[in-house]
Amino acid sequence: MTAPLAAATATAHANIALVKYWGKRDADLMLPATSSLSLTLSTFDTTTRVELAPAGGSGEVTATLDGAPLTGPALAKVQRFVDLVRTRDDVEGDLAGRGARVTSVNTVPTGAGLASSASGFAALAGATAAAYGLDLAPRDLSRLARRGSGSASRSVHGGFVVWHAGDLADPVRGDLTSFAEPVPAAADLDVAMAVVVLDAGPKSIGSREAMARTVATSPYFPAWVEHTEVDVAQARDAIAAGDLAQLGEIAEASAMRMHATMLAARPAVRYLAPASLGVLDAVAGLRASGTGAWATMDAGPNVKVLCARVDLDAVVAALEVGGDGGRRRVLRALPGPGLAVTRG
Ligand code: PMV
Repeated sequence: MTAPLAAATATAHANIALVKYWGKRDADLMLPATSSLSLTLSTFDTTTRVELAPAGGSGEVTATLDGAPLTGPALAKVQRFVDLVRTRDDVEGDLAGRGARVTSVNTVPTGAGLASSASGFAALAGATAAAYGLDLAPRDLSRLARRGSGSASRSVHGGFVVWHAGDLADPVRGDLTSFAEPVPAAADLDVAMAVVVLDAGPKSIGSREAMARTVATSPYFPAWVEHTEVDVAQARDAIAAGDLAQLGEIAEASAMRMHATMLAARPAVRYLAPASLGVLDAVAGLRASGTGAWATMDAGPNVKVLCARVDLDAVVAALEVGGDGGRRRVLRALPGPGLAVTRG
């Protein structure tokens, strides 16, 4: 009898938070300080294949991204993640100690500065769990993806997604209850996102370190936590009611508050670039002229703009023209699907 091929391939899409996650309450378990809410996109996906080495080998884990071998801290992160899976009690004896080859491909446009750990760790979670013989429910896949990167917990699902902060009193219960799940949306809520790609300039601080500094030093952080839970509840109501204007206002406010909170850290964490402010002005200009458009920003200078699907062409056309007459690069995205896993 031939042994079953221990391999799996998974695809996950990027998500953009409309109510942001910024700050952990437990860095080991990757438990967030607050719940958050996002939209999974139709573009910017990662496909990852995990193939186990035969039993009795060295147990080594190797990885490539877009054809190039991973080394250093990036490889160590993947290895730690695979260890998390292969040391679980529910991995069967023969599979547990085996090494793995991880092959990952991103479809993020080159130089767009959008490389997201969310699609990457969601795809890695799906492929690794399946290759090591686990059949995890969506909730447990989301919990697993969370351990690679918090925002990855949300890319397990398509469309609008909420990631619950989970039980705040106890980390063990917190780990069990901090997962993402889809948010029911009104049938006529037909949204799109324009992604304005700006020059990333010199590489800023990574989100992990920036969050830790914000939690430790920003006097605004407690207020951020308090408001974010309210924003999540109101955003859910807006999605259920199909109220795009209400959702957009909450999303833009959440992004601005997140950046305000990190600007108040010492030293300040600043991802806003002069060009970002130009796009925020252009978005305000769109609204002033009657087109519904709301901006959000993450740990970088790019600006993502939420709008109705019917307005996407007009929003892209308006944002492509820079204030100084130059052209901006604007990508289009629609709501996208959740994690897809194929075994073998
Ligand atoms: O999951 P991380 O470590 O990539 O952090 C994501 C943080 C933000 O993108 C800025 C906000 C969010 O909720 O996705």
